Amino acid sequence: MQIPTSTLGLAGATALLCACAGNGDGLNSQGEPGTPGSTPTQLTADFQSIQDNVFTPICTRCHEGASAPEGLQLDAAHSYALLVGVPSSEVPTLTRVKPGDPDDSYIILKLEGASGIVGQQMPYGGPYLPSSTIDVIRSWIASGAPQSSPAAAAAAFAVVATSPADAAVLPAAPRTLVVAFNREVDQSLLNSGSVMLERDTAEGPLTVPVAIGAAPGNPSTVLLSPLQTLGVGSYRLRVRGTGPAPIADLSAQGLGIDTTAQFRVAGEP
Ligand code: HEC
Repeated sequence: MQIPTSTLGLAGATALLCACAGNGDGLNSQGEPGTPGSTPTQLTADFQSIQDNVFTPICTRCHEGASAPEGLQLDAAHSYALLVGVPSSEVPTLTRVKPGDPDDSYIILKLEGASGIVGQQMPYGGPYLPSSTIDVIRSWIASGAPQSSPAAAAAAFAVVATSPADAAVLPAAPRTLVVAFNREVDQSLLNSGSVMLERDTAEGPLTVPVAIGAAPGNPSTVLLSPLQTLGVGSYRLRVRGTGPAPIADLSAQGLGIDTTAQFRVAGEP
């Protein structure tokens, strides 16, 4: 596993910044560290609480934006979609969050610094989460890793995240690509004409064969596995919301627009 030097630089700087704050306890409702000794905000075993008390204040220092490590964005708009049922990029045989099975969820192994992880214990460089905080995340996963408030049915059906994100530059080929929607997709509409990966070549865009399926336990997230290793080059992940075979949700509401995420596999530096 190769860590881009830019990420390491950020990690080092961030570790200094957060050395005195944010261990998952003692954060107030805004996610700010509380005064030492003051009553800590209740962290409860539901996704919203974990997002507000752990992921947002602690993890998004690094896990945010197109260059988030391993493509894992942990801000509120992306984290659920990119965690639940999505394979780890470091250890692709493990799922980041496997609903019902915390022991087999890579996020828990990373937070605990368990043997078998690739890379470092999280948060990178510490301070690490107290086991009481990790236990709360464990119980959320054990209870099936539900999303606290599924997007209101009234909201327009939309793509909420892709991984790689648009404009991402990846040091190594991703083994899994992710397209996350704000609600469950009609899986009968997932096919090579509705979700596709293209590679830019001198002769124009070339379709890369992929296997497509919903993330286990998270039917709002769609996983694409390229059937061949993606070489160095430029790619486009396209989700068709228009045209002859557009993606739609279970009540046949379409996306209305096509979504494109352009990314580059740069190769090991
Ligand atoms: C200081 C920067 C930094 C912070 C803060 C941080 N991470 Fe990370 N994270 C990284 C880096 C860099 C990697 C890739 C290298 C590694 O794993 O050591 C990574 C990798 C991961 C992975 C592996 C992803 C995969 O698909 O294999 C998980 C899971 C993860 N982090 C979770 C978290 C969580 C949860 C938090 C907050 C509690 C967190 N990280 C906080 C920098 C950070």
